[in-house]
Amino acid sequence: MLLEVKNLMARYGAVMALKDISFDVGEGEIVAMIGPNGAGKSTALNAISGVLEATDGSIDSGQILFEGKNIRGLRTDELVAEGISLVPEGRRVFPTMTVLENLQMGAYKRNDKAAIQQDIESVLSLLPQLKERMKQKAGTLSTGEQQMLAMGRALMLKPKLLLADEPSLGLSPNYLELVFDKLVEINKNGTSILLVEQNASEALEIAHRGYVFSIGEIVLEDTGKNLLRDEKVKKSFLGGL
Ligand SMILES: Nc1ncnc2c1ncn2[C@@H]1O[C@H](COP(=O)(O)OP(=O)(O)OP(=O)(O)O)[C@@H](O)[C@H]1O
Ligand SMILES: [Mg+2]
Repeated sequence: MLLEVKNLMARYGAVMALKDISFDVGEGEIVAMIGPNGAGKSTALNAISGVLEATDGSIDSGQILFEGKNIRGLRTDELVAEGISLVPEGRRVFPTMTVLENLQMGAYKRNDKAAIQQDIESVLSLLPQLKERMKQKAGTLSTGEQQMLAMGRALMLKPKLLLADEPSLGLSPNYLELVFDKLVEINKNGTSILLVEQNASEALEIAHRGYVFSIGEIVLEDTGKNLLRDEKVKKSFLGGL
């Protein structure tokens, strides 16, 4: 397994947010986490990416292993060095910097200019929407374009595992579809993806496997296909279709 999370418990102050959850992501997989608001999906992702403390949360117990190595408590830059990068909820591009500068920031750890340029080219071939906007300030991009940029910046780190928290949030149907298509393409290029999504049907359609969260617990896990057909999942998350 690429990522293994075992018996994770996390809290915000006195409030338990994750009650002993276990899940994993295999090499080459897209894994979706779905569930209602407040179920603990972002908490789980933030626990892995090391930003839980920054949101006043803390891990009580549990193991987080990446390629068999304990990564619990590592800083973001240490996680990047291991091969993990996060597309945070709400995108968070640097608004006053240009698209190009945002992408270059994605490679801030490195100083091999030629290689960085090459990586920018490959990000742009995946996300051509950004090409004409390289000199535009990121804050003036449309929501969908900012999402593309946030993904592009994360990809500049050449992650083995991409953590994405609601990448389709607030996007129009066209852009929403584009984001899911891009995630599939990124995955085909060799990056494993752990995806948190409110758009459960789209997420389960592209996911190899999925986990259903409810009030801090994982209540169901199966292949994306099976979850799409599951009566309880249909009723709760897929609009009863
Ligand atoms: N910084 C915080 N301080 C206190 N409680 C928090 C904090 N962040 C989250 N919580 C609580 O922890 C629980 C899990 O929240 P979390 O953000 O992980 O849910 P989620 O599944 O990502 O929901 P959503 O789909 O709405 O994004 C919720 O009850 C939430 O109110
Ligand atoms: Mg969330």
